[in-house]
Amino acid sequence: MVNSVLVINGPNLNLLGTREPEIYGATTLSDIEAITRTHAEALKLDVSFYQSNVEGELVDAIQGAKGTYDGIILNAAAYTHTSIALMDAIKATGVPTIEVHLSNVFAREPFRHHSYISPAAEGVICGFGAQGYILALDALAEIMKK
Ligand code: DQA
Repeated sequence: MVNSVLVINGPNLNLLGTREPEIYGATTLSDIEAITRTHAEALKLDVSFYQSNVEGELVDAIQGAKGTYDGIILNAAAYTHTSIALMDAIKATGVPTIEVHLSNVFAREPFRHHSYISPAAEGVICGFGAQGYILALDALAEIMKK
């Protein structure tokens, strides 16, 4: 059986490439999808992608992963720092989730140092740009072997 992973990206990540390039670089969300897909193939994982700017739609996506996906990679973007609803959704579904951020949130403004996602996540990867999604896939592949 092939394990499957859902990659969820939150608000404003659809604008990657033009959004604050001094922080997020020139890589677009499509570029991230392409490199993630290539790495997933190498790991023999099925991968799907979802992006929304709407908190409730992200909750729906996490809820919908139960029974369909074996792991989630979640960059909740600004909702990371505000959303109890996303934390509760991850806990409710119980699907192993890796929290990813492109930037090193701990080297940025203090309000980015707190995450509501981290208490529900298997682990957190931040500060490695698009490479973070690859590292998260590797982490999930290891978790799925157990
Ligand atoms: C981000 C970091 C968040 O603080 C910010 O609100 C984002 C992107 C990142 O990937 O570095 O939108 O999640």
